[in-house]
Amino acid sequence: MQTPKQIVAELDKYVIGQDEAKRAVAVALYNRWRRMQLSEKMQQDITPKNLLMIGPTGVGKTEIARRLAKIVNAPFVKVEATKFTEVGYVGRDVESMVRDLVDVAVQMEENKQYDNVRGRAEKEANKRLVKLLVPGIKKEKRQNTMADMMSALTALQNGQPADKADGEEVTDSIRDERLSVSEQLDKGLLEDRELTVQVNDEKKPAGGGNDMYGQMGIDLSETLGNLMPKSKVERTMTVREAREVFIREESAKLVNHADIYHDAIQLAENSGIIFIDEIDKIAAGSKKSGSGEVSREGVQRDILPIVEGSQVFTKYGLVNTDHMLFIGSGAFAEAKPSDLIAELQGRFPIRVELKDLTEHDFVRILTEPDNALTKQYMALIGADGVEITFTQEAIAKIAHIAATVNSSQENIGARRLATILETVLEDILYEGPDMQMGAITITEKYVDDKVGKIASDSDMSRYIL
Ligand SMILES: Nc1ncnc2c1ncn2[C@@H]1O[C@H](COP(=O)(O)OP(=O)(O)OP(=O)(O)O)[C@@H](O)[C@H]1O
Ligand SMILES: [Mg+2]
Repeated sequence: MQTPKQIVAELDKYVIGQDEAKRAVAVALYNRWRRMQLSEKMQQDITPKNLLMIGPTGVGKTEIARRLAKIVNAPFVKVEATKFTEVGYVGRDVESMVRDLVDVAVQMEENKQYDNVRGRAEKEANKRLVKLLVPGIKKEKRQNTMADMMSALTALQNGQPADKADGEEVTDSIRDERLSVSEQLDKGLLEDRELTVQVNDEKKPAGGGNDMYGQMGIDLSETLGNLMPKSKVERTMTVREAREVFIREESAKLVNHADIYHDAIQLAENSGIIFIDEIDKIAAGSKKSGSGEVSREGVQRDILPIVEGSQVFTKYGLVNTDHMLFIGSGAFAEAKPSDLIAELQGRFPIRVELKDLTEHDFVRILTEPDNALTKQYMALIGADGVEITFTQEAIAKIAHIAATVNSSQENIGARRLATILETVLEDILYEGPDMQMGAITITEKYVDDKVGKIASDSDMSRYIL
């Protein structure tokens, strides 16, 4: 388990500033691990201290959640609270966040178990590849008697695929060829060879999961799918890809799914994290709900039992939410945390505030994170063989313009950087492929030429930046 410091260091790679929020999140995460070290009795008594992140728009709340999801080795889901105020909402929908969390946990456990059997699965997968690459001779089919048809039918009902070995003849020469192909496979000589593979048709029926059955935790397609043979589709792929498909299929045969589901539920219960974004939008603020919109207080009342701890029925079994960690987040511009119903407020005892970003922060956001905007554009334009660089003054200018527009127009935080940078680079993005230029340096003057005018004209900047 990463220590709080390590988690913060990881977040630092992507999120500038907001140290208080990063620390609080890291401690909350680490506390999950601490709790698991205690006796079972103590574990029962210690419930997570849920956390509420409060801060203006565009300063990194959602970004922290997004990054957290990638670095924590725990089931994590993020939901938008506003989703539950939409027309067509029915009370049970809020439980879908718990079901989604369990789905993630199942995926995690499955990957873990699949990794354990990978060696064996790979062997089986290679055997299947050899047979596909050097097929046996199909025995002549004489399905003209009633008896033949009946036996074919029984085979089908027993779930035996038609291409089973009994329909195949393997001569000595085929056997020899298979041996040599198998050697070539082992040496990695056939990885790019293409072949046609029958794969399960993964297409789910439309609207799956959101229907009445989905809400009760029943996956209709899965239930029916077990009664009917899985529909197969043909796909052409390389040996490399086909092996992965086969490894998954073979792994599925080697693991115990009941164990996976059981472990997944425990994992979700003890380490699961549910991030509820835009939670301020379900507080009773100054704005009236539109007609047809579901009452915000109603949504809070629906969420409450989940956050307080209750049992949710999923297709893998009952899941207890007592020890799940909930992180709420919102700008709380119109509504305040105190506009949430009292019981819900009480369930988010830890409050952290995110600060407005400064011009200096903007400079860092533009350049420092691993996925910083300037790095993204340099890579994109690099695809045309054009190398762009920004002078420090140009970056400072962009940051300055962003801060100025934010204060003269609506303050949308770091989101402003994206629109400004896009405007600055518009021409290069358009002409890049035709320019035949090796390198372009974006200077302060270039930035000023492209956006200086727009930024100082409040009518224009309202629409463009
Ligand atoms: N502190 C930061 N460090 C790095 N990038 C940031 C930071 N804050 C915002 N950004 C950038 O701005 C974008 C918008 O930020 P984010 O989605 O986190 O806003 P938010 O705080 O959730 O706002 P809202 O309340 O409107 O949802 C992010 O995708 C990210 O690129
Ligand atoms: Mg957000």
